[in-house]
Amino acid sequence: MTNTRCPRFHLETRLVHDGQERTPLGETSEALFLTQGFVYESAESAERRFLNEEPGYSYSRFSNPTVTMFEQRMASLEGAEAACATASGMAAVTAAMMGQVQAGDHVVAARALFGSCRWVVEDLLPRFGVGCTLVDGPDLDGWRRAVRPETRAFFLETPSNPSLEMIDIASVAEIAHAAGAALTVDNVFATPLFQKPLALGADCVVYSATKHIDGQGRCLGGVILASAEFIETKVQQFLRMTGPSLSPFNAWVLLKGLETLPLRVERQTANAGFLADTLHDHPKVRRLTYPGRPDHPQAELIRRQMSGGSSMIALEVEGGKEGAFRFMNGLGLIRISNNLGDAKSLVTHPATTTHQRFEPELRAQMGISDGLVRLSVGLEHREDLLADLLGALERV
Ligand SMILES: Cc1ncc(COP(=O)(O)O)c(C=O)c1O
Repeated sequence: MTNTRCPRFHLETRLVHDGQERTPLGETSEALFLTQGFVYESAESAERRFLNEEPGYSYSRFSNPTVTMFEQRMASLEGAEAACATASGMAAVTAAMMGQVQAGDHVVAARALFGSCRWVVEDLLPRFGVGCTLVDGPDLDGWRRAVRPETRAFFLETPSNPSLEMIDIASVAEIAHAAGAALTVDNVFATPLFQKPLALGADCVVYSATKHIDGQGRCLGGVILASAEFIETKVQQFLRMTGPSLSPFNAWVLLKGLETLPLRVERQTANAGFLADTLHDHPKVRRLTYPGRPDHPQAELIRRQMSGGSSMIALEVEGGKEGAFRFMNGLGLIRISNNLGDAKSLVTHPATTTHQRFEPELRAQMGISDGLVRLSVGLEHREDLLADLLGALERV
């Protein structure tokens, strides 16, 4: 098989070609190796493969050629030395965090996290004797104050889900490193196009590939990206032994997703910018937060840290939960879902779905009011989206 890796090409070109392992048959598209395992020429060869003395594949829980192609294309996109794909975004977050700690260690994490990520650091890790302190992400002194001698890992997402709060990745990485800890960033909302956590000093980046990377509602997936040493010492064995592997079929779908990622995300972001600007002063909108607008409370940080505004808008409508429900139920084209990053525009009411399990005070700390609606902007024509949103706002 021949491997394509073309560091001299622009990102769009690399997203179409990098990582492809073409078989002697010369297929145009990436080959789909839909197999659980592999056979060996001899018993000696099997032994050498297990001793890591012979290159090749053994079993798709460990590695698979189609999954490797996806990992290599992701590493090229992120500018990472190594990548490990997982069955979902949560498998990536769980493996990245569990792989870094052991009983007695301590983790510091931002308070404003996607609900399941927060469960992993706040509920799961302590079951195994790992302490966790949650801080207000933008408060750098809060991160400093939370550090303990046994702190090993920092975790954050920015912009956060769903309130689009920003955290200064470079500054938090500096604090983590001074404490002897490694920083992991969940970069889902920024997308790999608009924010480069590794270049800003983070040690590890995780994605739910389910979101923009597939971007067409087809499959779940996740990926962890870091230095070769980080992946080898903290992630690989955890994944190999516990088994949240990405299906080769899903890896193939995600490879196809990467080919069109820039086209889709740029159009979604242009649509989101247009809608944010048009709806910002609407009388039924109490507050609209969009990272691409100059009135985002952390606009200066966004200018330094992101190269685009994202496809996500946080919209607080008048009338609390009732107002939000009237608005969502008034939409026709835009559908109600808990997903995001899709070609289809989607709305979510975080207080009653993704962040339902938190008490109202905790939700308030995360910037989630009862009137907050998260809008994931898709690929439809922007005027159709605007008409749908304006019609629904009339119902509020
Ligand atoms: C910020 C963030 N991280 C992680 C995840 C989990 O991804 P998955 O659903 O692929 O497990 C999500 C899902 O919504 C998310 O929004």
